[in-house]
Amino acid sequence: MTAFGHILNVEDARRAARRRLPFGLFEYIDRGTEDEVAIAGNRAGLDAIKLAPSVLIDITQRSPEAEIFGIVQPSPLIIAPTAVAGLVWHDGEIALATAAAQAGIPFCVSTQSITPIERIADESGARLWFQLYVWKSRERTLALIDRAAKAGAEALVLTVDTAVGPVREYNIRNGFGIPLKPSLRAGIDLVLHPRWTLDVMLRAILASGVPTYAHYPDEFRTKLGRTALSTEVDLAPDVTWDDVRLLRRRWKGKLILKGILTVEDARTALDHGVDGIVVSNHGARNLDCAPGPTDVLPAIVAAVGDKIEILADSGVRRGADIARFIALGAKGVMIGRATLYGVAIGGAPGASRVLDLLHQQLSATMGMLGARRLSDIRLA
Ligand SMILES: Cc1cc2nc3c(=O)[nH]c(=O)nc-3n(C[C@H](O)[C@H](O)[C@H](O)COP(=O)(O)O)c2cc1C
Repeated sequence: MTAFGHILNVEDARRAARRRLPFGLFEYIDRGTEDEVAIAGNRAGLDAIKLAPSVLIDITQRSPEAEIFGIVQPSPLIIAPTAVAGLVWHDGEIALATAAAQAGIPFCVSTQSITPIERIADESGARLWFQLYVWKSRERTLALIDRAAKAGAEALVLTVDTAVGPVREYNIRNGFGIPLKPSLRAGIDLVLHPRWTLDVMLRAILASGVPTYAHYPDEFRTKLGRTALSTEVDLAPDVTWDDVRLLRRRWKGKLILKGILTVEDARTALDHGVDGIVVSNHGARNLDCAPGPTDVLPAIVAAVGDKIEILADSGVRRGADIARFIALGAKGVMIGRATLYGVAIGGAPGASRVLDLLHQQLSATMGMLGARRLSDIRLA
């Protein structure tokens, strides 16, 4: 048995992460928004998709290999950008990127990463994408993407579904937020989770101060955990298609819009020369009345699927969920929480365990479906 032989599925990893992480941090990762209607909707939407099994097919040579933006990879997965992944494990972003490199898939670094992209690139050797939240200062935003390009990011992923800060009441109740603020509740949480407190928080404090966003310009950061000392790096509330034009002119690599949920926006993205879109409701974390990606993916694929690369995410917990998104026409699938649970319980090996499980489950699903390649997976 491997070190994580007792973790047999994503839910096992989730339960183990729940025990290990402070409650406020676990809920920040795990939960949705408002009444959490969308989180249940994502699950129900995926469960409702049935796939067609073809029998009596030799599936000995089956493979979930995928080609995304012209690059062949062993599976259709990409690790999604997740803010503060570096809080769930010491240097958590490097651990996630290391697991991605081992699986031969890209790791998407968040603007709100705790570890700077340069260190992630140096220490993981992973193929990197860079996720962008546009700051009020467009000049600083362009400087940030230049920095990502210099660090070797292949793709820029502009997140377009977070125009305002999401309503997450549990974070307020738990006293969880960035900057991290001391409170009685947070203090009790730390005492109750000593392994995390010592292995993650204390190590980070000793190395470089209270963890904070690494991509803010140096002059705007302090070691005291304050996110920013200037509104220049506040998230811009006025991001429009003009910004897509601006980024398209500046960014030489692949440009992807993440968080598209309508056919009209997918067409407009195409008109602006983007290379791909992620059909996503942000893991049901932002707009509680948003459709699930499964509701809108078929129409978006029919409209623009032959012209741009279409990826999907939100709600993947098993290999069958990946197969479902592929059957609806996605070329690739992003994984958010599942690998975060994995890294939370054991760094890179924990994240690798989750990626391996998803790979094995996808392979088993393909075998049952008589699908030798991803393109053989069909809706029932
Ligand atoms: C803790 C956490 C932080 C996230 N931070 C970001 C982020 O900084 N930028 C972004 O575009 N998406 C972010 N997301 C959304 C993910 O990229 C992805 O769309 C979502 O997690 C997919 O759903 P899943 O978690 O069900 O796989 C975050 C998700 C989680 C769980």
